[in-house]
Amino acid sequence: MLHNALLIGLSTLSFTSAKCFDPSPAFPVPLWEHGSKDLKPAFDRIVTKLQTLAAKEKYDTSSFSIEVTSNTDTLWTHFHTAREHNATRPGDTHVDGESVYRIASITKTFTTLGILYQHAAGNLSLDYPVSAYIADFADSDSSGRIPWKDITLRIMASQLSGIPREMGQADLINELPDPTQVGLPPVGREGLPECYEYDHHSRPCTKTELLDNLKKKAPLFAPNQRSTYSNLNFELLGLVLENVTGLDYSEYMHQSIFSPLNMTSTSLHKPSSDAHAVLPVGQFFWDVDEGIHSPTGAIYSSSSDMSKYLRYILTHYNALATGVNWMMPASWSEGMNSFYGMPWEIFRTDKILGKGNKRPVTFVTKAGGVPDYFSRITLMPEYGLGLTIFIGGANSLLNEIQEIVTVELIRAAEIIIWRDIEATYTGTYTSTNPTLNSSLTLSSSASTGLVLKTFISNATDVFTTLLAEYAGVGHNDDAPWRAQFTPTLLYKNETAQQGEIWRLLVVPERTKEDEESVWAEFCNTDVDPASYAALPINEFVFWRGEGVVEAPAWRVRMKKVADGDGRGGEGGGQEDGDDVLGVDQQPQRTLSWLKRSLQPFSPWRL
Ligand SMILES: *[C@@H]1O[C@H](CO)[C@@H](O)[C@H](O)[C@H]1NC(C)=O
Ligand SMILES: *[C@@H]1O[C@H](CO)[C@@H](O)[C@H](O)[C@H]1NC(C)=O
Ligand SMILES: *[C@@H]1O[C@H](CO)[C@@H](O)[C@H](O)[C@H]1NC(C)=O
Ligand SMILES: *[C@@H]1O[C@H](CO)[C@@H](O)[C@H](O)[C@H]1NC(C)=O
Ligand SMILES: *[C@@H]1O[C@H](CO)[C@@H](O)[C@H](O)[C@H]1NC(C)=O
Ligand SMILES: *[C@@H]1O[C@H](CO)[C@@H](O)[C@H](O)[C@H]1NC(C)=O
Ligand SMILES: *[C@@H]1O[C@H](CO)[C@@H](O)[C@H](O)[C@H]1NC(C)=O
Repeated sequence: MLHNALLIGLSTLSFTSAKCFDPSPAFPVPLWEHGSKDLKPAFDRIVTKLQTLAAKEKYDTSSFSIEVTSNTDTLWTHFHTAREHNATRPGDTHVDGESVYRIASITKTFTTLGILYQHAAGNLSLDYPVSAYIADFADSDSSGRIPWKDITLRIMASQLSGIPREMGQADLINELPDPTQVGLPPVGREGLPECYEYDHHSRPCTKTELLDNLKKKAPLFAPNQRSTYSNLNFELLGLVLENVTGLDYSEYMHQSIFSPLNMTSTSLHKPSSDAHAVLPVGQFFWDVDEGIHSPTGAIYSSSSDMSKYLRYILTHYNALATGVNWMMPASWSEGMNSFYGMPWEIFRTDKILGKGNKRPVTFVTKAGGVPDYFSRITLMPEYGLGLTIFIGGANSLLNEIQEIVTVELIRAAEIIIWRDIEATYTGTYTSTNPTLNSSLTLSSSASTGLVLKTFISNATDVFTTLLAEYAGVGHNDDAPWRAQFTPTLLYKNETAQQGEIWRLLVVPERTKEDEESVWAEFCNTDVDPASYAALPINEFVFWRGEGVVEAPAWRVRMKKVADGDGRGGEGGGQEDGDDVLGVDQQPQRTLSWLKRSLQPFSPWRL
């Protein structure tokens, strides 16, 4: 009877019938403590692997700088200096955090940040066409040509404009000593640009040369149809910035970003001395003036400066402009895992956490490459971590270093996070009102997240009533499920950063049938399924300092009376052996990193 009554009630609600596995984020953003020893074993393993890598003969002329930063502090650095230098122009022979590289296309993130600032200031709109800011495009006849009036700044920044990749770069006529040797026909140079790569990089292209050339070009795709990488998007966004600010691009970057963030080694201009210049043997690009191409790839910077920039992004990405979360994808790239943001290259993988754990981890990255300089920045917003890799030398180092550092780092971070979640949240809580028979128990593991194991409300086992009904809606009643908490990253008291608000979700466990079913992975997230007397039924508020959890719709406050035993309590059993792979368990320490300070992580508030 009770079951039927509940079912009738619930079936009138618009539940999704989708299977949403493994909610993400699964934990609040960690605040890694400065000087914390927690990650040291992982960094030691990374150093060992990097030393083996750098020792290879093919990397004799390669230098690199790597930094990992939290939201607040640089946590780890590693520098390697090439064993061989150019005897007449060695540059920096002792690479450290101040050593300067060309960061190439990472420049695009700075150009985009400038556009976001101008959007926030009301000086331009992301959703206005580029023709509003570049007079040459204002009355372009678009028949067969690029439809500039349909190309907004937002879709340019998102690599969705459909315009060609280059003007003045990547033309094989300049790169191949003899094009006919690879089967290309002999051709003359009439009508080709006469600047930059077409002129041995001795003279950069001008604005007029760029715009005249673009007026003749045809699109690859209709605007907003399909993403494809284009340097031109950012060269034009640089011109848009100059148009609305009335400043030279370089001047604007200094005023709006480099100076405020104290990026003292960062510039659009070649440093006046080679003292900190990383100059791999055979390089020539250090000296190249990129001219009109600057907003797409000209910045010089150090890894220490880049850590400052990453800290800024990690703490402001959702507060830069109304309506913009800078980390969000704007379009998919190829495959299941890759997306373009503005102008981020976003990777989401369920392979990194190891067997039995398919929770996706998101990496928001931007890579850069010009001859002999290769780089990537990676933001891991769930973990509150940012990674910089700068290389002067061999390109192949980049992906090798990326794999080593991110895999070790994320797996080690997961172990620390779940160990501390276990220590902080899990255990048995009972009603602070002694006349009320209400209690709950929480357990946790990396693969299941923070889960509710039992919930008695006023002598009723909610697992057999309401939660069972939630689980049954749209699913096979017998299919296994768990009740998992997902943090909202909001607080009841935002000022004090206290009273963490979490939502409880009924999460289906993957079954063998799910592995085989094509549609099992289709999911429409809905974390607000029902309320009781207008309060969300699945809201739980953790007052960590007091060891209290509140369930507002249930009108109950419960205080911790016993710690978790680390085994997930009664009915557990999935927890053992399914932690992340490849990382040794570390000795138990008392929680320190998760402690909130009054320097809040609130990227949605400036
Ligand atoms: C910016 O572009 C608009 C539209 O083409 C033009 O009217 C204006 O003069 C330009 N401003 C500057 C400072 O170049
Ligand atoms: C908006 O544009 C005006 C005029 O170009 C400029 O003076 C002002 O600094 C810009 N605002 C911001 C926040 O950059
Ligand atoms: C700016 O950065 C430099 C190092 O590049 C540092 O010495 C200085 O203290 C920083 N200034 C501020 C205000 O943080
Ligand atoms: C070494 O530097 C000199 C400039 O000082 C340059 O002319 C030469 O090409 C460089 N050689 C190599 C192999 O990089
Ligand atoms: C507990 O349940 C009883 C009925 O079994 C009810 O009378 C009482 O009001 C409930 N109290 C609370 C606080 O839910
Ligand atoms: C509280 O309620 C549960 C579920 O009905 C019951 O098993 C338990 O014995 C009750 N505890 C007390 C102290 O009454
Ligand atoms: C939030 O916390 C601050 C600092 O502890 C306190 O002064 C304030 O009253 C709290 N606000 C609310 C709404 O409880």
